[in-house]
Amino acid sequence: MNTPNRLWRIASQPTDAVSPRNFRWSEEPIPQPREGELLVRVVYLSIDPVQRYWLSPDATFGPPTQAGMPMPGRVWGVVEQSTSLAFPPGMLVAGPGAWAERCTLPLAMVEPVPAWPGVPLLAHTSLFCMQALTAYFGLLEIARPRPTDTVVVSAAAGAVGSLVVQMARISGCARLVAIAGSEEKCRWLREQLGADAAINYKTSDIGAALDAACPGGIDVYYDNVGGETLDAVLARINAHARIACGGFISHYNDGGHSQGIRNFQMLALKQARAEGFSCFDYVARAEEAFSNIRRWHEQGRITSRTHLLKGLGQAPAALAGIFAGSNIGKTVIEVSPPPVENAA
Ligand SMILES: NC(=O)c1ccc[n+]([C@@H]2O[C@H](COP(=O)([O-])OP(=O)(O)OC[C@H]3O[C@@H](n4cnc5c(N)ncnc54)[C@H](OP(=O)(O)O)[C@@H]3O)[C@@H](O)[C@H]2O)c1
Repeated sequence: MNTPNRLWRIASQPTDAVSPRNFRWSEEPIPQPREGELLVRVVYLSIDPVQRYWLSPDATFGPPTQAGMPMPGRVWGVVEQSTSLAFPPGMLVAGPGAWAERCTLPLAMVEPVPAWPGVPLLAHTSLFCMQALTAYFGLLEIARPRPTDTVVVSAAAGAVGSLVVQMARISGCARLVAIAGSEEKCRWLREQLGADAAINYKTSDIGAALDAACPGGIDVYYDNVGGETLDAVLARINAHARIACGGFISHYNDGGHSQGIRNFQMLALKQARAEGFSCFDYVARAEEAFSNIRRWHEQGRITSRTHLLKGLGQAPAALAGIFAGSNIGKTVIEVSPPPVENAA
């Protein structure tokens, strides 16, 4: 074998917490693209909580996963071999790839990465990505904050939550409360992202902390976590509150042993609405979201932050780390260096 392609294959599907033991390092020949495919050198690999969900035997969406398969993940990279004139070698693209140094991508699912001045490739991974669509449409279409509202956001220092906090500030609300798992995160949310209050859910009684931070009750809750936090918020919602159910990270690692929600009846008592959604429902409207995010970024009203780890070897620990809260912002693996003109 000449230069090998290094990749992570699934060793086993976790039944509880995902760990590096669930993955197996492999060195194999570089794959050759078939008709309708591209060969891409991976520059950045996205590490996301949903990848834990994909590994569940009963996952109902996402790529199929089984022991032995390459671990799937979204990638940004450089075309090395192409079967399409529209995607020439050297072009920067993004699409559903794998935890690999090189992977073949189906042309039908690949997008060119636009060359926007002042936006390095790394910023695309946190600002012009599925997490950004999730934040944008979940907040602005599902939850629809009003100027008099108290807005609460959980997992607020993560990829989605940190954008929701900034977008809530931009779109206007009376009070903005962020929930996150460390003092460093809470400080960043208050001092840099503009939250009025930040709650460290790991060191406080979440109910008492919400009472103190939201004296007028809660009008909008952007939920990234589910579980006890959702229950505590439900107990404090105002009439006609809106809850955007974006994710349930507190359940993903629990092997199906989560307790049910106790305060669901509050939706009826407060004539409130809780609505789940998927970013995939909004892909056709990505341009609308991205043009606004780009404008806010140019105006300095929205910042991107990545938890950047160098080397493909880090991917399994990075996924496990998300569940320990080790990231601030979007978790990204730098698999190979970006082209010089696209570097930060
Ligand atoms: N609906 C959609 O289309 C869509 C799309 C993308 C993502 N999502 C969902 O949105 C949520 C956030 O995703 P993300 O990409 O922002 O994730 P992320 O950047 O990886 O951040 C997730 C954060 O969640 C917190 N967390 C981990 N375990 C937790 C637990 N047991 N209880 C409470 N918080 C916990 C951690 O921070 P702390 O230090 O604060 O604990 C972690 O950093 C996830 O539930 C994800 O599945 C949904």
